Amino acid sequence: MFSTSKNPLTLLSLNRTFHNSLWGENPASVAPYVPSPYDVVRKMLELAEVGPDDVVYDLGCGDGRILFTAILEFKAKKAIGFDLNEGLCKNIKKKAEELQLQDKIQAVNSNFFLADLSPATVITLYLTTSGNEKLKPKLEKESRAGTRVISHDFPVKGWSPTNSTEGESFIYHAHSLYLYKIPEAYMTRQLTEDSASSRLQRIRSFFRR
Ligand SMILES: C[S@@+](CC[C@H](N)C(=O)[O-])C[C@H]1O[C@@H](n2cnc3c(N)ncnc32)[C@H](O)[C@@H]1O
Repeated sequence: MFSTSKNPLTLLSLNRTFHNSLWGENPASVAPYVPSPYDVVRKMLELAEVGPDDVVYDLGCGDGRILFTAILEFKAKKAIGFDLNEGLCKNIKKKAEELQLQDKIQAVNSNFFLADLSPATVITLYLTTSGNEKLKPKLEKESRAGTRVISHDFPVKGWSPTNSTEGESFIYHAHSLYLYKIPEAYMTRQLTEDSASSRLQRIRSFFRR
């Protein structure tokens, strides 16, 4: 079942007026800037089993903490983040240069809905339920088989997390973490929809006789 999280982003979502004022001017924005705590970042990357073969994409990368943790602690091959906030992206680039990690860490100052997601083997999200809902068709279309999608606090509605049935999550220090595997996360739903539609067709053709 969904957990009642004490996470600040969840609490903000409860107050629409307040949350709209923090959402930012950019109409493409689907979440305000609230960083994931570092222990949650580590748990996300651990659950997604990030390792040396992985290309990690953080959609809405904030200050880049997921990118740096993926490279420095989980030894990922590459970590690429997208964010609408120019200042945050500049800081990530500066920090990556200081650590001589510019070939491994990239911060792209643009709308992630315009990015090509196919190179990613792990996608991290800390957005909102409505943001995930908008992103879902793109994830289903572009992500390659085997990609792990890990979402902090907000489910991708209609997908089944790897740990159990739809809606269930790992609970870590009052944070919900939803781990999905492409395409298993939505194959069950598609198979169910396909069989329901073929059942409907059979019933319709029976009554047309
Ligand atoms: C809740 S923060 C998450 C930051 C980081 N991923 C973390 O977990 O610490 C969400 C971020 O998504 C960014 N964002 C929202 N919509 C976006 C979009 N369409 N394209 C790029 N970035 C977006 C916001 O600017 C914000 O920095």
